[in-house]
Amino acid sequence: MIALPTRRATVRLAHTLARELQPGDLIVLTGGLGAGKTFLVRALLRALGVPAEIAVPSPTFTLMNEYGRDTGARVPIVHADLYRLLGGDLDEELSELGLRARRGEGWALIVEWGEDAYRALGGDGVRLSIDTHPRVAKVVGEGPRGLALASALSDEK
Ligand SMILES: Nc1ncnc2c1ncn2[C@@H]1O[C@H](COP(=O)(O)OP(=O)(O)OP(=O)(O)O)[C@@H](O)[C@H]1O
Ligand SMILES: [Mg+2]
Repeated sequence: MIALPTRRATVRLAHTLARELQPGDLIVLTGGLGAGKTFLVRALLRALGVPAEIAVPSPTFTLMNEYGRDTGARVPIVHADLYRLLGGDLDEELSELGLRARRGEGWALIVEWGEDAYRALGGDGVRLSIDTHPRVAKVVGEGPRGLALASALSDEK
C-alpha cells in the first residue's frame, strides 16, 4: 500500500516508477474517474525526461498517445486509456490499436482502464490501482518482470 495523500506523494511515486521502468514494461492502472491515473502518468513522463513544452493530455478520446525517445523519454511510452472500449470487442480493438506489437518493439505500455486487457497485452506486468477516500495505491505484480517491478515500487515505502 502506498499512501497518496497529496499530489506531491503521487509525483514521488511517479519518480520511483521512472527510475525502475524498463522498455517493454506493462502497467495497467485502475481506479475510478478522477482517481489520479492520468496525473500519475503525466508526472511519470516528466520524470522520464519529457519536457513541459510537450503536452501530456488524457488519451480519453485518442485512446493512445505516444512518447518516443525523440520526446526525451528515457523509455518510450505508450499511454493508453481503454475506457471507451469497455463493453465492446476488446480483442479486436486492441489488435487494431497495435498495443501488444508496440510492447514487442520495446515501448512500455501504461494503460488506464486496462484491467480487462491485461492478458491480451501479454501479462507479466503490474496492476496499479488507486483508491480514493483515502487516496492509496496498491501495486500487484505478476510474472517475472511484473513481480520485480512491483517489489521495486513497494520497497520505497
Ligand atoms: N494525491 C493526488 N494524486 C493525484 N491526483 C490528485 C491528488 N489529489 C488531487 N488530485 C487531483 O485529482 C485529479 C485526478 O485526475 P486524473 O485525470 O488524473 O484522473 P484519472 O484517474 O485519470 O481519471 P479518468 O478515469 O477520468 O481518466 C487531478 O485533478 C489531480 O490534480
Ligand atoms: Mg485519466
